[in-house]
Amino acid sequence: GSNILSVEQFDLDSIQTVFQTADRMQPYARRQKRTKVLDGAILGNLFFEPSTRTRVSFGTAFNLLGGEVRETTGMESSALAKGESLYDTARVLSSYSDIIAMRHPKSGSVAEFAEGSRVPVINGGDGANEHPTQALLDLYTIKKELQHHGHDINGMHICMIGDLKFGRTVHSLSRLLAMYKNIRFTLISPKELAMPDAIIDELVRGNHQITITDQVAGLLDADIVYQTRIQQERFTTPQEADLYRGKFRLNSEIYTKHYKPNTVIMHPLPRDSRAEANELDNDLNQNPNLAIFRQADNGVLIRMALFALTLGVADLIEKYECDVNW
Ligand code: CP
Repeated sequence: GSNILSVEQFDLDSIQTVFQTADRMQPYARRQKRTKVLDGAILGNLFFEPSTRTRVSFGTAFNLLGGEVRETTGMESSALAKGESLYDTARVLSSYSDIIAMRHPKSGSVAEFAEGSRVPVINGGDGANEHPTQALLDLYTIKKELQHHGHDINGMHICMIGDLKFGRTVHSLSRLLAMYKNIRFTLISPKELAMPDAIIDELVRGNHQITITDQVAGLLDADIVYQTRIQQERFTTPQEADLYRGKFRLNSEIYTKHYKPNTVIMHPLPRDSRAEANELDNDLNQNPNLAIFRQADNGVLIRMALFALTLGVADLIEKYECDVNW
């Protein structure tokens, strides 16, 4: 097995393998079937930054394949707080685990950790850099949602909105989408929070159509609208984040005004539900195009697929099926 540190490691063929494997995980995720293919295997789940979905879905995915999970959450509860290096931490923890999932606030930290690890390491988000498993579950969701409307990823129009500078989910997703054909990207953010040039360059090299703006205006004609949170934790001071919070909201009224009736609404979550932010209003909760919880559900399927493929057991899942006892 190898590490999963960046979406750059994937191509259209390997993405298809991940998605086909994820499809096969449905009955296990729905508890219609059980498998013990990872019986005796241990996941080291190391989260040095807050997380709900990524941490719990990595753990759940591993459990659903029959494996066990060891968790470390928070820098303060690990020896990193005493000055231990990521390399030493990795050397030690990788002898306790068969695979490691890790999130850390510093860009590049998961790759640094992987240098010291003797088992595969999966990036669960490294600062503002990348969140490859989120991008894969987002892309899987986009594919399913568009299929539902008889559309394809190639040629689609996606609006990404909010903090495109520090948003690792939009960085990784853009890099994956760059591998497809003729995508229209409308990138809407405050000028100071624009998509990094390196990613724009990748989109340009892929001959995609790019519109960069700081306004939500007119009928956007998007297939997907991808809202993001202003992440206070990425700014030097909370006051700096205050300048941007609440700038790009989406609610029922704005949705009706700027989007066509079938536009799929996505957000990596967590959405900031405080009144001053509220970038994705609860008044859209009953809208059938709101895909945010389907994204979160798909996260389990994608992470099961990645574990099975990385540990080389994808072909053995059905062989190790066992009874459902409850
Ligand atoms: N989407 C996502 O990464 O959520 P968490 O921060 O809750 O893991």
